[in-house]
This record gives sequence, C-alpha cells and structure tokens, in this order.
Amino acid sequence: MFDFNGKTVIVTGGAQGIGKEVVRGVVNGGGHAIIMDLNEEKAKETARELGNCSVYKVDLGSSENIRRVMAKVLGDFRRVDVLVNCGGVVSKVPFEQITDEEWDRTLRINLTGTFAMCSSIYPYFMEKKGGRIVNVSSVAGKIGGGLLGTAAYATSKAGVNGLTKAIAKEGGKYGISCNAVCPSYTVTPMTQSLTDDADKRAKVIGIIPLGRAADPSEPAQMILFFASEAASFVNGEIGDCDGGIALD
Ligand SMILES: NC(=O)c1ccc[n+]([C@@H]2O[C@H](COP(=O)([O-])OP(=O)(O)OC[C@H]3O[C@@H](n4cnc5c(N)ncnc54)[C@H](O)[C@@H]3O)[C@@H](O)[C@H]2O)c1
Repeated sequence: MFDFNGKTVIVTGGAQGIGKEVVRGVVNGGGHAIIMDLNEEKAKETARELGNCSVYKVDLGSSENIRRVMAKVLGDFRRVDVLVNCGGVVSKVPFEQITDEEWDRTLRINLTGTFAMCSSIYPYFMEKKGGRIVNVSSVAGKIGGGLLGTAAYATSKAGVNGLTKAIAKEGGKYGISCNAVCPSYTVTPMTQSLTDDADKRAKVIGIIPLGRAADPSEPAQMILFFASEAASFVNGEIGDCDGGIALD
C-alpha cells in the first residue's frame, strides 16, 4: 500500500477496471480520489463502494469538455496532487477494415484525451511547483498491438508513450513528473471478449511468459507507485506490467 495521506488524486476511467483499483489504492492509502469518467452511474457506484471519492462526468473524446470539467475540479478543490490518465477505449478492427471514423475515435479518446487532461492541469502544476502525472498506456504501444487492440489502439498508446516522455522532459524544471504504465492482458470489462472466447484467450495467454492474465490490481500497483512519493525521482519511465512480453 502506498501513502496518499492528505493527497488528492484525479483518476480518469476510475469507474471500473484498472482505474477502479487505482481509486481503491488511493483511498486505502488515506487520499481523496476524484473519479472523472463518462459513465457517471458506474462512477457513483464505485464512489459509494470505496468512499472518500468525488465524481465528475467527463468525455475524454472532447477536449473542450475536458477543459471545462478540469476548470470546475480545480475550482472546487484547493489542492490536486496527482493526475492518473486511465480512461480509454480499445479498437479491435483489422487494419484493412479501419475506417477514418474508427481511427479518429480511438486517437481522439486515448491520445488527444490524455493530452487535453495533461494540458489542462499543467498550468496549475506549474504554479504550485509540482505534480505527478501517470498515463496508462499499453504493451500494444510497444509491440504493434496483437493481444486485443489493433493498429489504431497501438498507435494511440505509442503516442501516449511519446507524450509521457515529452512532458517528463519539459515538466521536470517545474517539479512535474510524468510516467506511464504499459499493462498487457488484464481481466476487466474492456477484455470481456477474451473472457468469452476460450480459444482467443488461450492464444493471448500463450504469448505472456507468466502464462496468465493480470488481475486489475496488478497494473494498479505500478500506477500507484508512480503516483506516490515513493517514486519521487522517477520521471519519464515507461513501465511494463505485462507478464514479460516486452522485455525492454
Ligand atoms: N484491460 C487490459 O487488458 C488493458 C491492457 C493494456 C492497457 N489497458 C489500458 O488500461 C486503461 C484501463 O482499461 P480497463 O481495462 O480498465 O478498461 P475498462 O473498459 O474496464 O475501463 C475504462 C474506463 O474508461 C472510461 N471511458 C471510456 N471512454 C471514455 C470517455 N470517452 N470519456 C471518459 N471516460 C471514458 C469507461 O467508462 C471506463 O470506466 C485503458 O487506458 C486501457 O487502454 C488495458
């Protein structure tokens, strides 16, 4: 468990899956979590279950909406210490079938949404001379997809890795750190189609050296480490939590 006493942590996509486990870790560590999610109902359910959470509805597919909601959050809270960008969507379409709409949807939510979240909190972090950002990427961004997500997904996550390093480099002088976590197959609602398809599931598990899928609490632990003061000198790291797939 990591110490979040007195800390306020924004978690996009905190309603379910990996994000929910991040929220759980923040609350168990004594912090307050701000869940920003499109699924307001689910987010409220999670907040009721875990306690010490606030909920803001946001659409990561709209930079304008992100900036408006972030301004409200920063107005409502005297202090925000950490931003965890966990919200996202998968795209499973074979390359030859990817339409411009599918490409735009995936890039807009996963990459531009992450950019707009980082960009809308950055001036606040600059002014307060510090802040931690953790982006949830994917092994797909390193190996060209192939588990569940395909080209648009892999590209969006490779973009997140580049963005993470750029913010780490430029934000360092303001005390802003930015790191990313690359999970592989994790059992969440996003990967329900693998749970339902034994053959496909076995194929995916076959390329994971640890020979199993992750529980959402496992990538969450790495995210929580990057979010915490335990990682005070870690900046620009793209951390693998993939059971040994990337090996880089
Ligand atoms: N599950 C995996 O195997 C896996 C592997 C690698 C990376 N990831 C990444 O981890 C992160 C979390 O994935 P998960 O498996 O928990 O997924 P999930 O589908 O269970 O949860 C995603 C959350 O993001 C929210 N969300 C989706 N679109 C949104 C939007 N437009 N605006 C606001 N919120 C939105 C959803 O409502 C949901 O609460 C994602 O970025 C995903 O790409 C997951």
